[in-house]
Amino acid sequence: MGKITIAVDGYSSTGKSTIAKRLATALGYIYVDTGAMYRAVTLYALDNGYIGTKDDIAGLVKELPKIKLKFVPNKETGRSEMYLNGENVEQEIRTMKVSRQVSKVAAIGEVRTKLVEMQQQMGKDKGIVMDGRDIGTVVFPDAELKLFMTASAEIRATRRYKELLEKGENVTFAEVLKNVQERDRIDSTRSISPLKKAKDAIEFDNSDMGLEEQFERIHEFAKRVIANK
Ligand code: DC
Repeated sequence: MGKITIAVDGYSSTGKSTIAKRLATALGYIYVDTGAMYRAVTLYALDNGYIGTKDDIAGLVKELPKIKLKFVPNKETGRSEMYLNGENVEQEIRTMKVSRQVSKVAAIGEVRTKLVEMQQQMGKDKGIVMDGRDIGTVVFPDAELKLFMTASAEIRATRRYKELLEKGENVTFAEVLKNVQERDRIDSTRSISPLKKAKDAIEFDNSDMGLEEQFERIHEFAKRVIANK
């Protein structure tokens, strides 16, 4: 049976990564979280003073060749984790400190060019589920299956707030909701590869549906696409 490319795009905290990860496991495909790559570049920029109180985008762009990203599977869980220049940054890239700045970094053309090239390389043999914002529009416009995930901003902020509290972050719901809305705005209005549904993507709204139920539907659908390949 031939392998396909599956693009999972959509807004933040729509359960994209949960669905994409499970789909990859069920199909025996590779899973790639492209948001983690933008987050790792953002962490590098924060740690090295290129963004924060004062931004030096040109300085960051010059440093790009020095930024080495790698996904390495965790020996115990089997889940792939993000390494930035040899250091495991999987936890740190999920903090609010990074979330607050990531849309700014993701809007830089040179950053996108570098990461899109890496993503295309990772998916060149198909058999991949890639989750992000521009996978079906820019990275793999020929993907055989494109999903576009949505849910209301309130539902998404509630999910994110719970996750952050569980991780021990000191945040308010209002701050998380504001961050979700602000990222939606920046991600969908930026001039380069804005977040938008590809014409041939299928939209799934899970505001009123559990992720388990939605996963079952998507899995059945993916199996049909693969069988007809
Ligand atoms: O999926 P996430 O919330 O971890 O992504 C973090 C940020 O990275 C998000 O605000 C938009 C950006 N991003 C992007 O511009 N393109 C992608 N393919 C993936 C993420």
